[in-house]
Amino acid sequence: MIAVGCDHGGYDLKQEILRYLEEQNIEYADYGCYSRESVDYPVYARKVAEAVKDGACEKGILICGTGIGISIAANRIAGIRAALCADCFSAQATREHNDANILALGARVVGPGLAVKIADTFLHTDFSGDERHRRRIELIEG
Ligand code: RB5
Repeated sequence: MIAVGCDHGGYDLKQEILRYLEEQNIEYADYGCYSRESVDYPVYARKVAEAVKDGACEKGILICGTGIGISIAANRIAGIRAALCADCFSAQATREHNDANILALGARVVGPGLAVKIADTFLHTDFSGDERHRRRIELIEG
């Protein structure tokens, strides 16, 4: 199950991402927001981050205008490693090296076609499991 959330700046891109998930038969939970009406991104970052932290969802996707605010907010939740990606190389590397559990996207930064490819890469790349990467993640968690 993939947790998906956005603010108003990410609403349209979230609809594209949900369409992709449906086409791929990937189950998701949509934590809002549900329109282009102005909302506060930390609220949606927290909802998705808590769902991932609690194990209700295995990964999350968060979208705001830049992807910056919503990733900063998600990363305040213990155990969350939210990675803001604007290219597929980063999406692959952050899964392999950081075991990132949330992908953040900036709807005003990447177009929908690239965003879907980034999400596809993120969701289909496994953590390498290498000892050095495990050690570094443990150091992040403290
Ligand atoms: C909303 O206008 C915008 O500030 C938000 O979507 C995001 O870009 C914040 O980092």
